[in-house]
Amino acid sequence: MPATIILGGQWGDEGKGKLTDALAGDADVVVRANGGTNAGHTIETERGIFKLHLVPSGILNPACICVIGAGVVVDPRALRKEMDDLAARGVDLAGLRISDRAHVVLPYHPLLDQLEESQRADDEIGTTLRGNGPAYADKVARRGIRVADLLDRSTLRRRLDREVATKNQTLVRVYEQPALEVDALFDEYAALGESLEQYVVPAEMVVQDAIADGQQVVIECAQGAMLDVDYGTYPFVTSSSPTAAGACQGAGVAPTQVRRVIGVFKAYSTRVGSGPLPTELHDATGRTIRERGREYGTTTGRPRRTGWFDAVAARYVARLNGISDIALTLLDVLDAFDEIKVCVAYEANDVSIDEAETGHPRSRGRDRGYRVARRVIDYPPAREGQWDQLSPVYETLPGWRQTTSEARAAGELPPEAQAYLRFLEEAIGVPISLVGVGPAREQLVPLRAGADSIVPAVAT
Ligand code: IMP
Repeated sequence: MPATIILGGQWGDEGKGKLTDALAGDADVVVRANGGTNAGHTIETERGIFKLHLVPSGILNPACICVIGAGVVVDPRALRKEMDDLAARGVDLAGLRISDRAHVVLPYHPLLDQLEESQRADDEIGTTLRGNGPAYADKVARRGIRVADLLDRSTLRRRLDREVATKNQTLVRVYEQPALEVDALFDEYAALGESLEQYVVPAEMVVQDAIADGQQVVIECAQGAMLDVDYGTYPFVTSSSPTAAGACQGAGVAPTQVRRVIGVFKAYSTRVGSGPLPTELHDATGRTIRERGREYGTTTGRPRRTGWFDAVAARYVARLNGISDIALTLLDVLDAFDEIKVCVAYEANDVSIDEAETGHPRSRGRDRGYRVARRVIDYPPAREGQWDQLSPVYETLPGWRQTTSEARAAGELPPEAQAYLRFLEEAIGVPISLVGVGPAREQLVPLRAGADSIVPAVAT
């Protein structure tokens, strides 16, 4: 059976973990495709709250094989601790598999992440400081250490000797930091390799065999597509590809083996770290969204920036990723508002923005003697400077001012909430199959069921 991809459609933290966990009830294999401990999934179950960073969300289903794919960067210290914590709470780890091709985050990576951020000064990215960027940089520079290397003492020693020598030059000469000690690192990471060895496999073969056997395979991306290193708000992005294409690459699955791409979106926007967020609200409304949505980072605890739903970014993500279904989470957060806005276009007030490049002219006028071009842009621009010149064009919809968290079917949602969902579907161009009205699994409300829908899998 072809695979299903779950990805975040915005800037991360859309609630992918809960959806993956729900789909994992039916899935044979769940594969995590990208990212590292920068990600965090919170899953609330009857067994309590689980905060996962590296282990795929399907781990709570003992029948599910949970694969950490080749596209992930694995911090073995953090993974070992996460596994031990799960085991201590009675979670069975027998289904865990770790790709031998996944790259390893070593202690110099978080160190460099911090030092590089401090050098960026006003231009800082606001990374999670977990070392993911430097680890991916080493991977593409072909100097990374992989999980397979942890299992081979002589390779590990050789590669660590070379890497630590190089990193020490940067640490000592550029950043005036103490040098790292290679012997201690080697001992610790060889031991970590030994302790993880029973889980290490050629993961892409596990996934391919599952697909060949007609099993249900779910691939989960970390972060969100607007943080993609190619199509996100570069340079304020993560260092991997949380996209449908990235999911294929990170899991070892071909595009022709994918049946469905589920985009998980919040009913509004959030972002942690720096970078464009065109609909950001700095007022009481933004604070209400933050408090009602408990918008604080799972990994760093940072308050998230909040804003209205950005349908320009969502439509862009839906198109680039071939999103077939949407799961819209946290609708209940909007229960408190008289009016709800949706950004349907960006408007540029800058004559320097070239019409041919940026899209469709909307209106032109004369203002104080010089011509001002007002143009509507219907996709996220590449040039960093353009973001500052854009203002969101909003459509305002009536709020519903009543609780939605008890709804268990589309018809039980207030009419204004149903109208809001229809408006988003139209604006994004993709049907919404599920809507989240609270943290519990049963609060994922099916909007439409069909033969090929995600709804039956979640509802059973
Ligand atoms: P990094 O991935 O730690 O290098 O951080 C790069 C950017 O991605 C920063 O703005 C982070 O806040 C953001 N980011 C990374 N992982 C996540 C995530 O799981 N959720 C939301 N934002 C994330």
